[in-house]
Amino acid sequence: MKILVVGASGTLGKAVTANLRERHDVVSAGRNSGDHRVDLTDEASVHALFSAIGRVDAIVAATGSVHFGPLAEMTAANFNVGLQDKLLGQVRLALIGQHHLNDGGSITLTSGVLSENPIRLGANASCVNAAIDGFVRAAACELPRGIRINAISASVFVEAWDAYRDYFAGFEPVPAARVALAFQRSVEGVTTGQVIKVW
Ligand SMILES: NC(=O)c1ccc[n+]([C@@H]2O[C@H](COP(=O)([O-])OP(=O)(O)OC[C@H]3O[C@@H](n4cnc5c(N)ncnc54)[C@H](OP(=O)(O)O)[C@@H]3O)[C@@H](O)[C@H]2O)c1
Repeated sequence: MKILVVGASGTLGKAVTANLRERHDVVSAGRNSGDHRVDLTDEASVHALFSAIGRVDAIVAATGSVHFGPLAEMTAANFNVGLQDKLLGQVRLALIGQHHLNDGGSITLTSGVLSENPIRLGANASCVNAAIDGFVRAAACELPRGIRINAISASVFVEAWDAYRDYFAGFEPVPAARVALAFQRSVEGVTTGQVIKVW
């Protein structure tokens, strides 16, 4: 398969790319890294990416920033960070990308454990992750030509544990390589409309 991985240089993206490259032709992309440059917050940039790479068999998003901060100090502008970047960035990739997928292709997005397991400072992240999960459940019902879509919802990565452990008391970190197996399942398997949890 020819697989587009956006965010391939990140902690998650590196693990996903290493897994998929064993069996597939991976085209990597990021704002400042990868085979191609793309900014998922920019509609024209996403169109330009697909014009450059042509049709693909799978689209993977391993990107997304959200705002972490106390609710009492949170502004709408703060909240909009996650809406524009992690949520609409990935949704934009799916909306445009569906028209550049071969029959039987797939889209795999990244959500996260906070959708169902809130932490302090995490209102934006919980909301955005739940929205991504909702999007894939509904989008799967409408995608034509055997195209599938799933979200991968992981706990904190072992690789990020030192930075995040104080915020995730009592959570069990997971190796990014284990999360990558869920991406493999989404890309190479048969499920659609699923939130694959790696908690
Ligand atoms: N870290 C964790 O413990 C954890 C746990 C569960 C879920 N997640 C989720 O997993 C995803 C990836 O996290 P990560 O820790 O791997 O992040 P990361 O290391 O910061 O990597 C982010 C990747 O996305 C690219 N990117 C960022 N913004 C972009 C944009 N607007 N357009 C295109 N590419 C963009 C970056 O490339 P450039 O730098 O070249 O732009 C980079 O390759 C996020 O959605 C995060 O919420 C993370």
